[in-house]
Amino acid sequence: MNHFAPPSPRAKAPSRWIALACNVGLMLMLALAFGGWFTYGCQPNHLHEAVGTGLAIVTGLLCLAMTLVGSFVFFKHLRRDSSAANMLGLAATVIVGLVSTMGTPLLWFMSGLGRVNLGGFGGWGRPLRIGQRTITPDVKVSSEWAKGPRPNVNGLDNVTRAILRDLWLHDARKEHASVPAFGQVAWQLLALGAPSDLVRRAHVACLQEIDHAERCFALASAYAGQDLGVQAMPALFAGGAELPKDRSRALIKVATEALIDGALLEDYNAELARTALDDVRDPAAREALIRIVEDEAEHAALAWAIIAFCIAEGGAPVSKALSETFARFGDEATSLYDPALTRRVDALADKSPLYAHGRVRFACAQPVFQARKRVATEKLASLLAAPSAIRDSLAA
Ligand SMILES: [Fe+2]
Ligand SMILES: [Fe+2]
Repeated sequence: MNHFAPPSPRAKAPSRWIALACNVGLMLMLALAFGGWFTYGCQPNHLHEAVGTGLAIVTGLLCLAMTLVGSFVFFKHLRRDSSAANMLGLAATVIVGLVSTMGTPLLWFMSGLGRVNLGGFGGWGRPLRIGQRTITPDVKVSSEWAKGPRPNVNGLDNVTRAILRDLWLHDARKEHASVPAFGQVAWQLLALGAPSDLVRRAHVACLQEIDHAERCFALASAYAGQDLGVQAMPALFAGGAELPKDRSRALIKVATEALIDGALLEDYNAELARTALDDVRDPAAREALIRIVEDEAEHAALAWAIIAFCIAEGGAPVSKALSETFARFGDEATSLYDPALTRRVDALADKSPLYAHGRVRFACAQPVFQARKRVATEKLASLLAAPSAIRDSLAA
């Protein structure tokens, strides 16, 4: 009987070259992600959000896989030979792996987030609504939308100039979003069988918003020192002008949106922009403001005409919906400016260059809002009392 069986052969550990390749791969992934963040995340022309998120997921999984493979190789070697080299290899792989697996996706994700991500009132245009969301385009370096007179930036310090860039960029994005917003309005008016005058005015408003967007991008670009424009808007791929199949509900939707977005907000923004005309000194900013004030007032008038049309077509249910919607509208203007931007404006010791370059005084927001809401209250009451007469006068 043989009592001395030969030792069972131990499986050969995988080559350390594999672990080394994994470590190099991990560091390369991290370096690429850092390069991506430096190229896109720090600049206005950031990656599209979906691309950034996609890269974050893919690179995160790759880093995790390389970390597991590299650690496994050194672990197998450590079991055969607990030398300092193998321990060091395992520790290094785990550390590099953890840093890369966490850092790489984070950097790509941040590359898809715009540095300039503003929203809020003072956009001088009709908001673009897709479902429950209000959409504005993302920004990129481009000369395609920056068309119009440029301001004189001489004498502006860097902080003031950066604030002016971001304030005008905020407006530019809102103005741009107003273009498809009026595209929606025109589409919906046609769907409801509206008169040609209303459809024409909706398309004219669309062209005016293009002009506003170009002027605002031209101003923002001059303060930025490089031309800024917009990225594609995939949120619009699926439409956005849909109406309920029931005609009465469709009229209610068009009427209440016209009330909030046009008769109240565009009118308010037109009057708020008007207050800036007292202080503006820069010719390019002045020209843009004048166009905005005049055109936005026209858009508010168009909204009232649309409301009148909807009341005439839909009768009591539309009137009731308008009254209820108006009652829910707040009594105070809500500043939706990015809070960080508002803080930067507040912290500026000398705000006179902002006013000279066409920016409104924040202190004007509430009084103008209260005054315009009073005007809207009276107009709506008149319209609900005598819809056909008002409709005729508005269409004249
Ligand atoms: Fe506008
Ligand atoms: Fe507008």
